[in-house]
Amino acid sequence: MRKTFLSLLVASFVAISALRATPEPTDEGMWLLSLIGSMNYQEMKAKGLKLTPEQIYSINKASLKDAVVSFGGFCTGEMISGEGLLLTNHHCGYGQIQSHSTVEKDYLTNGFWAMNKEQELPNQGLTATFIIRVEDVTTKVLQGVTGNMTEDERKKVVEGNMPAIIKTATEGTHYGGIIRPMFYGGEYYMFITETYKDVRLVGTPPENIGKFGGDTDNWMWPRHTGDFSVFRVYAGKDNKPADYSKDNVPLKPRHFFPISLKGVKKDDFTMIMGFPGRTQEYLTSYAVNLLQNEINPKRVGLRALRLRKMQEFMQASPTVRLQYAAKYASIANYWKKWDGENRGLKRANTINKKKAIEADFAEWVNKNDERKQKYGYLLPSFVKTYEDLGKVDLAREYFNEAILAIELLDFAYDVSDIVGKTEGKLSEEQVGKLRNLAKGFYKDFHAPLDKEIFKICMKSYNEDIASDLQSDFAISYRGADALYERSILASQEKFEKWLETKEAKSIQSDMAFSTLQAIVDMYQTKVWSITRKCNAQIDLLQRTYINALREMQPKRKFYPDANSTLRLTFGKIDDYFPADGVYYNPMTTLDGVFEKEKITTEYNDYIVPERLRELYLKKDYGDYAENGKMPVCFTASNHTTGGNSGSPIINAQGELIGINFDRNWEGTMSDISYDATRVRNIGVDIRYVLFIIDKFAGASHLVKEMQLVK
Ligand code: ARG
Ligand code: GLU
Repeated sequence: MRKTFLSLLVASFVAISALRATPEPTDEGMWLLSLIGSMNYQEMKAKGLKLTPEQIYSINKASLKDAVVSFGGFCTGEMISGEGLLLTNHHCGYGQIQSHSTVEKDYLTNGFWAMNKEQELPNQGLTATFIIRVEDVTTKVLQGVTGNMTEDERKKVVEGNMPAIIKTATEGTHYGGIIRPMFYGGEYYMFITETYKDVRLVGTPPENIGKFGGDTDNWMWPRHTGDFSVFRVYAGKDNKPADYSKDNVPLKPRHFFPISLKGVKKDDFTMIMGFPGRTQEYLTSYAVNLLQNEINPKRVGLRALRLRKMQEFMQASPTVRLQYAAKYASIANYWKKWDGENRGLKRANTINKKKAIEADFAEWVNKNDERKQKYGYLLPSFVKTYEDLGKVDLAREYFNEAILAIELLDFAYDVSDIVGKTEGKLSEEQVGKLRNLAKGFYKDFHAPLDKEIFKICMKSYNEDIASDLQSDFAISYRGADALYERSILASQEKFEKWLETKEAKSIQSDMAFSTLQAIVDMYQTKVWSITRKCNAQIDLLQRTYINALREMQPKRKFYPDANSTLRLTFGKIDDYFPADGVYYNPMTTLDGVFEKEKITTEYNDYIVPERLRELYLKKDYGDYAENGKMPVCFTASNHTTGGNSGSPIINAQGELIGINFDRNWEGTMSDISYDATRVRNIGVDIRYVLFIIDKFAGASHLVKEMQLVK
């Protein structure tokens, strides 16, 4: 008895001290490239890196960063040949592949391969952006900011300073520049960019390879997806960015990745460069509580309902399937991510870990009077601000997840952006813009499906949101039939007829349009006015909190949250234990594709193309196999997030070994809290990519452009 009591005591002591102890060395961190040399290089070298800092990032010489692009602003891509060949994910080029597809010429289903440059397909609006250099501009941006300014005043000064800084840095060049805040505005970095605007589709495997496993396997390991597609960046004759033209020529990049055929094994050094979108690693327990216990469960539930309805319609009609394929994938993607994130947050006890940090912080603050003066208010202010925010934060979220989830209202939102409060007739310019907008919208709009989504979303809104946030727009899900029957916006034919008349008034009084207006007006006064204030306050508090934490932990290396700027993360090929008693190997092979084929899933996620079977049966793997097996995917411990899709996974020598495309489900909470034992990125092995291009598709002319390292 005594013994049990004692060991319990010891156990709980160990648990608490484990939470508080300085963390084990981990592979956490998304680092700014210009700081690698001074901050991370020694550690990277110790972990196996064979390059110098200048080979990774240099402003004078070609370096690895010159082979990495922001692909369209939402993914990452990498250059793999001297003729502008670019690799990214299948799911990153999905919208483009879909837009070139018709029911008769279905590239999603069958894949597409340009057998020469003439066959490559242009993509309006698609860009590839290189980073020329990165610069700390904190002092310049904060010029004129004083300690007693309000957040609004500070913002005005900061934003006022930016254009001149960018102008000075880019004057006389064709470069662009953006300045992004780091550490909630504690620091500012400028990124000088070069954006190419002629990016053509070169090749993509069929969905049954590029999306093998579909939404069943999405965010999961073990994985067997050939999630890649090939594009080519074109430039003007001077190698500079140019709008699309038949006369453009393939870009000669400053650097492109050699491709390693040497293979990977557990514990090999890996690094990833790319454009991670958003993380929030320094949140307080109050913020995590709001997210984990209110926002995430609701948005997951709501998306599940929408997805089920979309499935119904997509299975009933091939046209609707094509129209909604990309929309479905993107809704499903974050539905599953948030679900995994919440499980991970709970399992890792994140709220308690954050509380432990806050307790340590309070203790540190209270040790010293000056600190008490400076930081004593922080935690109580966080509590108060999250209390205020909590009252409207679900409503804020429901604007995206319920209101704009209704395509009709989303469209009305865009239309109102153009029409606004115009009186009388619309201008020619407005009509032109509306015509363009409508062209894109109606192509993929199926009103009967959207009407059902309307019912689902409005019903949830009516049930979940406080009644004083409903009264100003008297529409409920019961009004759906009338709305879709009467609204001009719900029918392409009616919309086009209306456009002929150019009468602003008849659209302003349209039911969908006016409903949306009423909702927006209500949000302005009752929701956004509050969230805006709270979020400004949170920015200020977070900025001060991180500063204080840096003071408190002078030896710890802090990295700024992801914000769609170029970052480097490093780690190793690594396995993990997803659950007690379960072990996951870090590598998969083609055998797994054929094992999964025998499993029937509701949505036929495991169909194998016949051509792939032929190659498998003959073991016709060319130079790409290892010990008679065809590698397919691997996991590693690099810290990544959305936006890192398509990123190059690079070995110690700076050669390409894979393309990042996902994260493991057990690790999706890493956007808020990284756990070294569980967080893994998932990549497709570059040898599988080459095998598909070369052996499966017969596009060996592309492989000849590349530089292979054996
Ligand atoms: N989860 C990955 C990412 O966040 C891949 C998404 C696309 N794949 C899919 N089956 N929906 O983007
Ligand atoms: N698939 C994600 C993307 O599109 C990457 C996965 C992640 O969130 O880590 O960027």
